[in-house]
Amino acid sequence: QSNPLILGIETSCDETGIGIVRGRSAPGERNILLSNTIASSMDEHARYGGVVPEVAARAHLEALQPAIERAVAEAGVTLPDVDAVAVTSGPGLAGALMVGIGAAKALAVSLGTPLYAVNHLVGHIAADILDPDAPPLEYPTVALLVSGGHTSLLLVRDLTGDVELLGETMDDAAGEAFDKVARILGLPYPGGPEIDRAAAEGDPTAIRFPRGLSRASDMAKHRYDFSFSGLKTAVARWIEQREAAGEPVPVADVAASFREAVVDVLVTKALDACAQHGVPRLLLGGGVIANKRLRDVAIARAEAAGVTVRIPPLSLCTDNGAMIAALAAELIAEGRTPSTLEFGADSTLSV
Ligand code: KG4
Ligand code: ZN
Repeated sequence: QSNPLILGIETSCDETGIGIVRGRSAPGERNILLSNTIASSMDEHARYGGVVPEVAARAHLEALQPAIERAVAEAGVTLPDVDAVAVTSGPGLAGALMVGIGAAKALAVSLGTPLYAVNHLVGHIAADILDPDAPPLEYPTVALLVSGGHTSLLLVRDLTGDVELLGETMDDAAGEAFDKVARILGLPYPGGPEIDRAAAEGDPTAIRFPRGLSRASDMAKHRYDFSFSGLKTAVARWIEQREAAGEPVPVADVAASFREAVVDVLVTKALDACAQHGVPRLLLGGGVIANKRLRDVAIARAEAAGVTVRIPPLSLCTDNGAMIAALAAELIAEGRTPSTLEFGADSTLSV
């Protein structure tokens, strides 16, 4: 059996991602990343302060064809070389997903290849197996996925068959919280990198902001769930009070204290999950992983707890098509049946 060439399409949010992966054909073999092309419509959303679904869908429609051509060229292959097509079917923005699904179906039919519909969140986990410098992924592992669209804690016993959702955000995603607090502070969108920059000069212990859902009374039901909207409100109220008192707002201290609250609750819950399930491995993914404070705190506290942290390269952590191709590569290696053409976009698809 030869190694299949897989083209992955990701359009669940504002990134049009096309990835090309040479899949493994034998146990012990690695999947090889050949190209990973990303076109983002982030700039178009900036003036609205968040991703506008209709704008994202239109941008995918325009970006897909050139992105596919570029990904194929960068991989040094041609479209007829492609053996399988993979696409994100959810969760995500329905209209945005539909554009990618339509393109994937058309491509698979015209090339006469099988088509694999995959879950975006599990795709984020699959990004890990494309890191050539990392040892093979071991099971079970706890995965913390944090981006502008999701905040999920998962127990991964098997990438292709057994991924359990332990908890997720009840309101805003972690990245969304960064974006909203940045807006409150008068910083531009996307706010994550802006808050990060401002926080560098601030004192993380200056203000004790609330850690959502971390109180004992919340534990039983929402032990691994997250809530960031209360934190956002707390920041807004704190600033209002300062302004009402005619005092200047210490932007750097607010940014650093806010970031610390988010990082603390994310890392605490992820390591609690590791401890409770006896899992000495934690995988991080999603665009918020760009936050160095989050990475540093996770690594330091994990080490103290005897947990190994895995962080794929950032280009594989943010939304991309390569992770979608990688997950399909695993499904193919296990001989799974491809999807039929009937599937559609499922904006709330669960793992
Ligand atoms: O995964 P991603 O690129 O896109 C989607 O959400 O789909 O994540 C983008 C999110 C945005 O909310 C952005 O503000 C946040 O990740 N982000 C950060 C940082 N860089 C990006 N949040 C905190 N610190 C950062 N350095
Ligand atoms: Zn994502």
